[in-house]
Amino acid sequence: MSTEKQFDVVVIGGGPGGYVAAIRAAQLGFKTACIDEWQNAKGAPALGGTCTNVGCIPSKALLQSSEHFEHAGHAFAEHGIDVAGLSLNLPQMLKRKEGVVKANNDGIVYLFKKNKVTFFHGRGTFAGKAGEGYTINVSGPTTDSITAKNVIIATGSNARELPGAPFDEKVILSNTGALTIDAVPAKLGVIGAGVIGLEMGSVWRRVGAKVTVLEGLPTFLGAVDEQIAKEAHKLFTKQGLDIQLGVKINGVTKGDKGVTVDYADAAGAAKSETFDRLIISIGRVPNTNGLGIETVGVQLDERGFVAVDDECRTNVPGIWAVGDVVRGPMLAHKAEEEGVAVAERIAGQHGHVNFNTIPWVIYTSPEIAWVGKTEQQLKKEGVAYKAGTFPFMANGRARALGDTSGMVKFLADSTTDEILGVHIVGPVASELISEAVVAMEFRASAEDIARICHAHPSLSEATKEAALAVDKRSLNF
Ligand code: FAD
Ligand code: NAI
Repeated sequence: MSTEKQFDVVVIGGGPGGYVAAIRAAQLGFKTACIDEWQNAKGAPALGGTCTNVGCIPSKALLQSSEHFEHAGHAFAEHGIDVAGLSLNLPQMLKRKEGVVKANNDGIVYLFKKNKVTFFHGRGTFAGKAGEGYTINVSGPTTDSITAKNVIIATGSNARELPGAPFDEKVILSNTGALTIDAVPAKLGVIGAGVIGLEMGSVWRRVGAKVTVLEGLPTFLGAVDEQIAKEAHKLFTKQGLDIQLGVKINGVTKGDKGVTVDYADAAGAAKSETFDRLIISIGRVPNTNGLGIETVGVQLDERGFVAVDDECRTNVPGIWAVGDVVRGPMLAHKAEEEGVAVAERIAGQHGHVNFNTIPWVIYTSPEIAWVGKTEQQLKKEGVAYKAGTFPFMANGRARALGDTSGMVKFLADSTTDEILGVHIVGPVASELISEAVVAMEFRASAEDIARICHAHPSLSEATKEAALAVDKRSLNF
């Protein structure tokens, strides 16, 4: 094999875990390749994986556009701005989203060139051992065979199907179809009130759909701090999302008039609803299809994820795995952190990922964001804690914005005052949470945040006030 086909590091998958791992490996001086099979409608490579193509980026583009539409229809009047003849240009909204995606795809191509990462467009499959490393065949638009001493599997995840209701992406939609609906459905059904259900349900509600969300569990957003989840449930219901908890789906049937969902409600009563379209967002499954891991003996765990240790090593020396295809939260930034850490470990450095300080954000309006432990977790673990909350209603900047919904909540250790968790439902919670992440990473106390000067007027003052509230010292509430 020519030396052109021999690499130090090969990354399979060009999503946030894979492309970032490839860039970091190249920065560390490794001869690096990345294989990715995603292609756009024209058959061209579309680097960035689920996140860039059918996940984080297009969903946030549509969330932004639909929020503008909703504000123009309702919120502007309060500011003294009258909008006459407001109408939705859905093709333009979708076109803009495609443009945002393409800019991100192109950005990664540029970054690969800049960092001298060799890109192969196609599916990567393990073909066997090669000396101290492994041979990987590439098939698809590019056909090739390459070798590497170190391989990073970053093949991501796919939407989970509901048995008996396969995705057709026209009527029964995964996240892919949910991002490309070409006419606002009069009635939209969503199965699963998780992150995708709430974000995509919000998009289509804002542009005029009547949205019903059917959730199997009896509690709303079980992983979120209960107080925050209750507040969010109240706000979303007020906006018009019909969220039904504790349902049992009995069947999904496609017909001339759309798709009918038969279910039992929380009280066990039989119900039937017909929707124009149905989004099924009941979680995601790791993607190990066609990867040939059996050829090299990489093991999966009992849930089908590639089994890895705390440092992302598989059971096979030189083969690593990161991102959605391994245990842990399915988040782009978690995938990136793992990708960087693995590249650094290959270089003999101490890659660092702190699972206790990975932030979560749900990009609804208001946004929900949190880091660390919830109050219910601390109770369960028997940890003595103090809690402090501050409502945006009492924040001057929020009043000026015209968005006073929600609160910031701090949880700190009763004895040491160390911050154990921060939970926000409110405007731009996605940005506000970063302060809490930094504070927790440096093991700050609530008192530390309470004594730091925050700009006025700013939403971040609510963070400082919630930290003060931990010791019942709020100044503005
Ligand atoms: P992926 O992004 O799935 O990338 C894997 C890549 O590998 C893909 O390009 C795939 O085609 C390729 N591939 C797979 N097998 C092979 C093979 N054998 N050969 C070659 N290529 C292969 N997370 C957030 O943090 N914030 C958000 O706002 C957010 N929003 C989301 C919205 C939606 C609708 C969805 C579905 C997800 C969202 N996520 C979000 C989750 C986020 O997209 C994932 O956590 C992230 O993409 C995982 O990155 P990854 O690199 O592990 O895998
Ligand atoms: P999810 O795990 O967030 O939510 C799935 C929901 O479906 C749960 O509430 C679950 O109880 C429910 N459910 C499961 N089976 C059901 C059934 N048969 N009937 C009714 N309800 C059922 O999964 P989702 O929304 O599909 O998203 C997948 C992942 O993608 C998320 O967990 C997250 O990691 C990632 N993501 C992240 C985003 C962000 O960071 N803002 C945005 C979107 C997705």
